[in-house]
Amino acid sequence: MLATARTFTLDGISARPVRVEVDVHRGLPAFAIVGLPDTAVREARERVRAALVNCGFEFPFSRIVVNLAPASLRKAGPGMDLAIAAALLRASGQLEWEGMERVALAGELALDGQVRPIPGALAIVEAAREDGAEAIVVPAENGPEAALAGGVEVLPLGSVAGLPGLAAGERGPEPEPLRLGTGPVPGAPDLADLRGQPHLRHALEVAAAGGHSLLMVGPPGAGKSLAASRLPSILPPLGEAEALEVARIASATGRLGVGLPAGRPFRAPHHTISAAGLVGGGTPPRPGEITLAHRGVLFLDELCEFRRDVLEALRAPLEAGEVSIARASGTRRLPCRFMLVAASNPCPCGRGESDPDCTCQAFAVQRYQGKLSGALADRIDLLAAVVQPSATEIGGGAGESSAAVRDRVCAARERQEARLGLGRCNAEMTAAEVRRCEVAPGAAALLADLYARRRLSGRAHDRALRLARTVADLAGAPGIGEEEMAQALQLRRRDRV
Ligand SMILES: Nc1ncnc2c1ncn2[C@@H]1O[C@H](COP(=O)(O)OP(=O)(O)O)[C@@H](O)[C@H]1O
Ligand SMILES: [Mg+2]
Repeated sequence: MLATARTFTLDGISARPVRVEVDVHRGLPAFAIVGLPDTAVREARERVRAALVNCGFEFPFSRIVVNLAPASLRKAGPGMDLAIAAALLRASGQLEWEGMERVALAGELALDGQVRPIPGALAIVEAAREDGAEAIVVPAENGPEAALAGGVEVLPLGSVAGLPGLAAGERGPEPEPLRLGTGPVPGAPDLADLRGQPHLRHALEVAAAGGHSLLMVGPPGAGKSLAASRLPSILPPLGEAEALEVARIASATGRLGVGLPAGRPFRAPHHTISAAGLVGGGTPPRPGEITLAHRGVLFLDELCEFRRDVLEALRAPLEAGEVSIARASGTRRLPCRFMLVAASNPCPCGRGESDPDCTCQAFAVQRYQGKLSGALADRIDLLAAVVQPSATEIGGGAGESSAAVRDRVCAARERQEARLGLGRCNAEMTAAEVRRCEVAPGAAALLADLYARRRLSGRAHDRALRLARTVADLAGAPGIGEEEMAQALQLRRRDRV
């Protein structure tokens, strides 16, 4: 007998429909899965067999062929177990389910028949809705996450033994949708911990206000890593749609549990990371750190220790806000709108050339800083030269708290949204929008002078304007005045690098 079931396979951070066809007929007992399954899918045979037997079903002593259509699509992961089991039960006459064609199933099976949670449940339920399914059976643990999607009935299932009950119309209560945290996590590290460093504080505030990228250069132990980790706490809360985007990515990478990552992501990959780990890669493509940092902060500590090809790979996605991963089967686009924050020592020994104790040879310093001044540097908006805090500063009282800074940042963001549209910030202004900025003649003259003297690139010119616009937004000024431009140019200064 032949039976079918609907399920999905995860592809990047979205899901694609898969139809499971099971044929059970007389012949030598065998169990084959065809249709480009990966190892995890092929191993479904053993899980499905054990789960069915241990839940009191009969495993047909026949020739079983499972076809996963479309055959050209690569199927990955164990999330198709449940659909295979359901179709097999129907094909062997053990499950009567009127209207099962309109229901999708997704879930991994344990040997005792428990339905285990799967990564990407949110994307799968969204895909089921797009695919026109009326309901979808999901692992009980994924219920709250699945309910976020809306528009399709969610049927949580704890064990494969519950399938006949579901088929007979037994329904438990619909799961409550997961509550998406949007604001900063209570008890998260606070900017009050950063003592002294007035310049760095200002740079952090401007960067947060306009979504600008920031490079901190200074000796070790001055508070660079400490400052970066406080950045999410001064960023505005996520909008509802943004929170859903963050949740979708967290779900697809299996990090969305009951305790949702509240607020904006903060990712700080180690400098030994590969290019694929940073921007995404593999078959099927897996999101990299830049996608995990979507709508949040990507912090590259010890920037000069990263491999050059890894940093180069960052350039295009940084500007586009998405990364395209080309595979033979097609190109996947993954979102990656993040704030880049980087930190570096000024030279290999960390003291800086101006320090008489610096033992670094000139060529070593040059090679080290080469990574800073390359094409990536052109894409960094702010440069903060960090110095060691003085004895009174480091021993003094706490600095301004994150909440106070965040209020100013939020006010500046509101002005940007009024001008540019919901959820957008100055760092994302298009060239046309930059041209539309109101610039006082004095401010324009300052920039023109610098452009000619330093032979800036066109990109650097526009970046200065974007930054000046943010300084003006923080001050509540309608246009970019001379004062704002001077401040912006100061924040972009690279005399120490
Ligand atoms: N400006 C500062 N204010 C408060 N603590 C600081 C400051 N600078 C350094 N520290 C202390 O030194 C530790 C190391 O600082 P860190 O941020 O890792 O330095 P860096 O990244 O610049 O090498 C911090 O965890 C903190 O305890
Ligand atoms: Mg550090």
